[in-house]
This record gives sequence, C-alpha cells and structure tokens, in this order.
Amino acid sequence: MMKILLVGSTGMLGTACSRILGEDHEIVAPPSKELDMTRWDVVIETLDRVGPDIVINCAGYTDMEGCEQDETLVRKINIEGPRNLAQGCARFECRLLHLSSDCVFDGRKETPQPYFEDDPPNPLSAYGKSKLDSEIAVKENVPAYIIVRSGWVYDLTSRGFMRNVIRQALESPGSVIQVPALEMGAPTWSYRLAVQIRELVRSDSHGTYHATAEGCCTRLEYAQAVLNLLGLKALVEERPPGSFTPLIELPVNRILENRRLKKQGIHVMADWKEDLEIFLNAYGEALMQDIRAEGRGGIAA
Ligand SMILES: NC(=O)c1ccc[n+]([C@@H]2O[C@H](COP(=O)([O-])OP(=O)(O)OC[C@H]3O[C@@H](n4cnc5c(N)ncnc54)[C@H](OP(=O)(O)O)[C@@H]3O)[C@@H](O)[C@H]2O)c1
Repeated sequence: MMKILLVGSTGMLGTACSRILGEDHEIVAPPSKELDMTRWDVVIETLDRVGPDIVINCAGYTDMEGCEQDETLVRKINIEGPRNLAQGCARFECRLLHLSSDCVFDGRKETPQPYFEDDPPNPLSAYGKSKLDSEIAVKENVPAYIIVRSGWVYDLTSRGFMRNVIRQALESPGSVIQVPALEMGAPTWSYRLAVQIRELVRSDSHGTYHATAEGCCTRLEYAQAVLNLLGLKALVEERPPGSFTPLIELPVNRILENRRLKKQGIHVMADWKEDLEIFLNAYGEALMQDIRAEGRGGIAA
C-alpha cells in the first residue's frame, strides 16, 4: 500500500482516481482551498506533513476557451502549479504522476495514423501550449516522473461534447445535430483511465505514456454511437465547412497510440465503443436526468 497525495481530487479525473486508487492505497486528497498548487509554501508544507510515496496531479485549468483569454491564469495553474509540485517532489524524494493532453500535438498527421509518445509536439491552442510547458516543467524538475497524455475523456459530470449532443437531442427530438466531421480521436472513460493510472503507479513506470481508449472514431461516429446507445432520436450530420468559426484551433487528428503501456505489458485500456456501452448502460439514465434538470423543465422527458 502506498500513500498518495492526490491534487485536483474534486475534478472529473481526480474523482475517478480517488475511487479507484483508494481501493488499494491510502489517499490524501485536500481540496484546492487547502492545497493550492500555485503556492510554493503550501505545496512544501503539505508534502512535508503528508510524506507521500507519490503525488498524482489531476489538477489543471481545463477550460480551453478560457485558456485563450487569460494567459496569466493558464500559466499559473497549468505550468507554475506542476512546476511547484515537481520541485517539491524532488525535494522530498517522491514520485510525480502528471496528466497531459493530446493537444500537445498539431494533429496534422494523416488520419488514422496515430501519434506516438516520441512524436514531436507542436501545440496549436493556448491550452495545448500550457500542457506542453507543464510536461517540460515536470521533466526538468523531478527525476521520478510519469506523464500521462489522454484525450476526449468523459464521465457523468463532464461538460464536453457528449453532454452537448445529449442535450440537443433531448431539447429537440428528431432534430439535426451538426458536428465537426474531420476530428478523430478515441472517447475515453475516466474510470478506465483511472484503472490505467493505478497500473502505472503499481509498476515501476517512468517517462511519458499515451493512455486513451483503443480504436478511434470521428466526432460524427461518436455522437451517433451516444444517441443509438441511449435510444435518442436525432440526426447527426457534418457541419458544413466554413459555417462556424471556432474560438480555438483544435488538432484534427487526436489519435494516440498507447505504445509504451503495451510494450511494458501494463496496458488495460479498452475499445472506445465497448466502454461507451458499459458507461451509458450504467449511467445513461442518470446523465439524461441530470441534463433535463439543468434545462429546468425546458427539456421534454
Ligand atoms: N478532460 C479531458 O478530456 C482531459 C483530456 C486529457 C488530459 N486532461 C488533463 O487531466 C487533468 C484533469 O482533467 P479534468 O477534466 O479531470 O479536470 P477538471 O474536472 O476541470 O478538474 C480540475 C481540478 O483542478 C483543481 N484545481 C484547479 N486549480 C487548482 C489549483 N491552483 N490548485 C489545486 N487544484 C486546482 C480543481 O479544483 P476546484 O474545483 O476546487 O477549483 C479541480 O479539482 C488536467 O490536467 C487535464 O489537462 C483532461
């Protein structure tokens, strides 16, 4: 059993890690009010008091549009925070596992060729740039590090793509939902990612790892699969090119190959469609109820 200091435990991935790793390990999970990783003095005091074997950093500024608008805040949370944790872990000789993103790549590889761990990064967005800088801050400051890059992570609480598709289908049954057609990735369940993180923590892992669901799909296929599994009636179609100007430039190819996990024999990620089915069978009803409640009666039951 290890003692784990979990930073960002109230977030989507932090909640999953707390539950999954808590089955085998002692978890200390202070809220951000108690452990603000941007404060060096607080990081040092916490590490000294807790004395963890490993710090898992699930904290971050994840609002991609917000990242484009507030350079100071994104730098503080996504770069200075991880740097503080890395320097603190080096001082107290403990390991650091840090979360990063597929957005460190420019996505210009031809689909469906995947990105490998050692492909050259070239982020397009402020968020992607901050995640790349966070990786550098971790690598430069703590010898015993694990960086886990993932993407398209979903959960009951996630605010992203899946929720928007379900909301539109609930608000206007039978309507047409337009999605960007070219983007490809692998929808990844936070539970599965947390199980993979448990494996990484248990094994003698070091360096950068890709960890997304197996297989890949377009946004269009992803949306269609969600609607089919929930039995929702809506048509999904490609958003006409040029009809929408996104605030952020996102990579088109977001497919990551989990090569190092497989090579080390510690790969536990599952096919995206299988996990999506398990997830929606278990939580689809609750997710729809939640979205209906948010709509304050505006969404038909
Ligand atoms: N979601 C995805 O699809 C995805 C994909 C790839 C990688 N990632 C990475 O995975 C990590 C977790 O993502 P997520 O989606 O689970 O994030 P999330 O749900 O947005 O949660 C972020 C967490 O960070 C905490 N936090 C923010 N500022 C902090 C600070 N200064 N000190 C300590 N804690 C702070 C928040 O606490 P409060 O709520 O108290 O502010 C919250 O617990 C991030 O590094 C993200 O970049 C996410």
